[in-house]
Amino acid sequence: IDIEQFQTDLISWFQKEQRELPWRKDKDPYKVWVSEIMLQQTRVDTVIPYFHRFLELFPEVKDLAQAEEDQVLKAWEGLGYYSRARNLQSAVKEVYEKYGGIVPNTPKEISSLKGVGPYTAGAILSIAYGIPEPAVDGNVMRVFSRILSIWNDIAKPATRKVFETAVRELISHDNPSDFNQALMELGALICTPTSPSCLLCPVRDHCAAFHEGTQHELPIKTKN
Ligand code: ADE
Repeated sequence: IDIEQFQTDLISWFQKEQRELPWRKDKDPYKVWVSEIMLQQTRVDTVIPYFHRFLELFPEVKDLAQAEEDQVLKAWEGLGYYSRARNLQSAVKEVYEKYGGIVPNTPKEISSLKGVGPYTAGAILSIAYGIPEPAVDGNVMRVFSRILSIWNDIAKPATRKVFETAVRELISHDNPSDFNQALMELGALICTPTSPSCLLCPVRDHCAAFHEGTQHELPIKTKN
């Protein structure tokens, strides 16, 4: 794989074709954080109105840190997985009290926050701070299982590290934000689970699975 050409093809496509989404309007780390937590178990179309309302109620770290938990949970009502909201507020309180309201920008500090796993940490660091960290979720594993023909079982917890290592070798250091967001967008729009639109894919020339015709067999995902 020609890494430079891959990065250029992927990022150029994203810059032309990306959906206009509210959390892409600015790169405030707090807003990126809120969006990534909401998007973890919930679809984009569902998240959009919640994201707007949540940020009207709690525009900055200070506002969420000082809010009543009842009010936070009420704003979350309908999104489900309420521990996400409780953990987010608890972590935002820590950012307010321990870091003066500035979301930390190191993998170690940000990963220590409640509810911030490796995916969320990588998303905030890359999108908001331009730090070249991988942000590997199920969608990104699907995309890279095909591009690199990786046959590891993505249902196994240990497999995420295999993909993180692969992404570290390919991530753009010039534009980690667009690189990671392009992977999310590619997974959402083109490299879909059951009928990937390979003929429209900006990186099909770099894709091992397309080359081999195995795109419908990947990723490997056992039921458990
Ligand atoms: N899914 C997870 N993070 C996302 C993002 N930033 N944009 C679109 N979909 C996503």
